[in-house]
Amino acid sequence: MLTSIKNINEIQLKKIAEVMAIDLPKQLNLYLLGDLGAGKTTFVRYFLQSLGYTDLIKSPTYTIVETYLIQDKKINHFDLYRLIDPEELSYIGIHDYFSSEAINLIEWPEKGKAFLPECDLEIKFQIETEKVRELIFKANSRQGEEILKQIKEGLGEKNI
Ligand SMILES: Nc1ncnc2c1ncn2[C@@H]1O[C@H](COP(=O)(O)OP(=O)(O)OP(=O)(O)O)[C@@H](O)[C@H]1O
Ligand SMILES: [Mg+2]
Repeated sequence: MLTSIKNINEIQLKKIAEVMAIDLPKQLNLYLLGDLGAGKTTFVRYFLQSLGYTDLIKSPTYTIVETYLIQDKKINHFDLYRLIDPEELSYIGIHDYFSSEAINLIEWPEKGKAFLPECDLEIKFQIETEKVRELIFKANSRQGEEILKQIKEGLGEKNI
């Protein structure tokens, strides 16, 4: 089922990231979809900051993945935009990233296709105006549904 939340400015995006960071499982796969500049990396930055990360957060456009160890959690931030062939993922040892417990936030998952695990939750960012986005959520697992519920409750029903 799709859930759309419209009229999201950066303050509300930060709030969503904060709500997600509460009660986080150790293992979770999120696909972040949407055009260039739609807000995927911005969301990841707010998410990492919500977990207490204060250092610089780089976009992994050239490195494909950046890993963060925060408290007892491992967070892998992928950006697959520059992949030409999904098979390149096997050269960076993609299997190892997905075989241990981690929160995987994946930008441009379309470019990785068969090499990626199933996701718990998809978030599609659509540009409404320069400062406003529509977020379209699709939960694909029980855990994904739980997180979506957490987000809705955190934002308050009136915003949905
Ligand atoms: N409501 C909003 N949500 C997210 N970003 C916003 C919003 N309003 C303005 N922005 C701005 O839009 C830009 C989004 O850039 P960002 O790098 O996050 O996009 P992206 O989806 O990761 O793009 P790419 O596919 O190139 O990696 C940022 O400069 C951010 O400050
Ligand atoms: Mg990005």
